[in-house]
Amino acid sequence: MNLKDKYIDFFVSKGHKQIPSAPVVPENDPSVLFNTAGMQPLIPYLMGETHPLGTRLVDYQKCIRTTDLDEVGDMTHHTFFEMLGNWSLGDYFKKESISWSFEFLTKVLNIPVNRLAVTVFKGDDKVPYDKEAHDLWLNLGISEGHIASTTEDNFWAAGETGPCGTDTEIFYFRSDEDIPEVFDTEDDRWVEIWNNVFMQFKRNKDGSIENLPKKNVDTGMGYERVVAVLEGKTDNYTSSLWIDVIKLIESISNKKYIGNEESMRIIADHIRTAVFILADDAKIKPSNKDQGYIVRRLIRRAIRHAKKLGIEINSNWEQEIAELIISKYSNYYEELIRNKKDVLEALNKEKNKFNKTLEKGLKEFEKISDKDIDGITAFHLFDTYGFPLELTIELAKEKNLKVDIEGYNQKFKEHQELSRNSSQGKFKGGLAGDSEIETRYHTATHLLNAALKVVVSPDCHQMGSNITTERMRFDFNCDHKLSDEEKKKVEDLVNKWIKEELPVTKEEMTKQEAIDSGAECMFIEKYPDIVTVYSIGDVSKELCGGPHVKNTKEIGEFKIKKEESSSQGIRRIKAVIK
Ligand code: SER
Repeated sequence: MNLKDKYIDFFVSKGHKQIPSAPVVPENDPSVLFNTAGMQPLIPYLMGETHPLGTRLVDYQKCIRTTDLDEVGDMTHHTFFEMLGNWSLGDYFKKESISWSFEFLTKVLNIPVNRLAVTVFKGDDKVPYDKEAHDLWLNLGISEGHIASTTEDNFWAAGETGPCGTDTEIFYFRSDEDIPEVFDTEDDRWVEIWNNVFMQFKRNKDGSIENLPKKNVDTGMGYERVVAVLEGKTDNYTSSLWIDVIKLIESISNKKYIGNEESMRIIADHIRTAVFILADDAKIKPSNKDQGYIVRRLIRRAIRHAKKLGIEINSNWEQEIAELIISKYSNYYEELIRNKKDVLEALNKEKNKFNKTLEKGLKEFEKISDKDIDGITAFHLFDTYGFPLELTIELAKEKNLKVDIEGYNQKFKEHQELSRNSSQGKFKGGLAGDSEIETRYHTATHLLNAALKVVVSPDCHQMGSNITTERMRFDFNCDHKLSDEEKKKVEDLVNKWIKEELPVTKEEMTKQEAIDSGAECMFIEKYPDIVTVYSIGDVSKELCGGPHVKNTKEIGEFKIKKEESSSQGIRRIKAVIK
């Protein structure tokens, strides 16, 4: 039986109900492109909502992380991975969580106790040292020398705000050398295999921490990593999870893995992730936007590396790899079978599309790459030859050249505005196609966002919005229906700010600077590297593409027309300005 099945069976035997993996594209959460952790789809329940299947849950969750996309090619990075997790929603806590992890590792997986080490929370000015976790491990038989403590690595939070808590991380000694008596967290022969988070707090926007209604447990075990570690592989791509895919790529390319690792890993990883995105019921297709852009980048990067390996791009290579991946995973994810035809078609279509210009684009790149690549050239490669910016950067890197990313972003934005204006049939300076009334609504949206944080909860964030010339619609996370009093207070506060004639100012900065400045940074993944941050007096600061009015007095009077449920945990406000 494989690790995934053993894990599920074990926790089912401890009273857990198995829940299916949520889709890779989150339902009802436009703030992120993909599910990035097992706990993400469970956030409402960790915050206190009742789960229909009870208080003990177990699952394997499909996750996609694209922040490390360009790292793929080494031994351990993947853009798609599965996370095994068991959950207590206000049910058991540290004692059971720790002893079951110990039992699973030592009795089911038969790992010798001295191969394991753990870390616990060291304590800081807000939360004390986790002596309880330390003592539990000690009583189970982990030696004192194998229990370390840290502050940074033993506090886990889903993001700046939201559910969080101290954790205990479990490490496995993967080397054949003698196992040290004292566990050194810096010694990379110890590999983290499991993280048990004792999720009992929520963090507010101002950094303060308060108790959640219930104490929860959220654990996460990265499947590909643990399979590799247990099989004694330092290169994940040589574990039993991957080896047949790598072998297939060897046979298609007629090359050996040794010596061609980077390209083969990129092809294997990227085609697998593309298959899972395309098979999702969200019906994503390659495009220049959001998830569609990610899948396009993955496919195009895989194609470029296939070419590097000398694979005949017009052959069926990507279909063969995709079919193998589908057959490997279809027992666990039925959508792969259900949507197989769409997946294969989309891959083929995107391949043909890119293949038409790839050769010419590479030639063009050779011609121009005697010096650093400016923004206009990078945009030309994108616009004419379909080179995602990241591909240009990768090609440039191979030649030690720089790419003017800011210049590219600027060009990209101009182009978008141009096509938006022309598709709407309007060309006018300044407002990039948005009418004056829409611009006023847009600034009102920021004020409403800020007012909800003051009146309802600092944890309220924008989850979506839609503006027409007639009204604005604003979705935000909130666990209750707003009372009449709350609505009135929100409305009054927005109108107060409008009357205060607050200036609206705009700054450009990197994403990191935006985060550090404390700006509201929802949907950050969707923005280019250089972002604009709009401030309204000192009541609001948000990352946003604009446009906005110059002063709040231009907005007019703000009135909430309706407040209703949009989906689970999300409320919707419809408002007008006069
Ligand atoms: N939320 C924790 C993690 O992602 C445990 O699941 O590591």
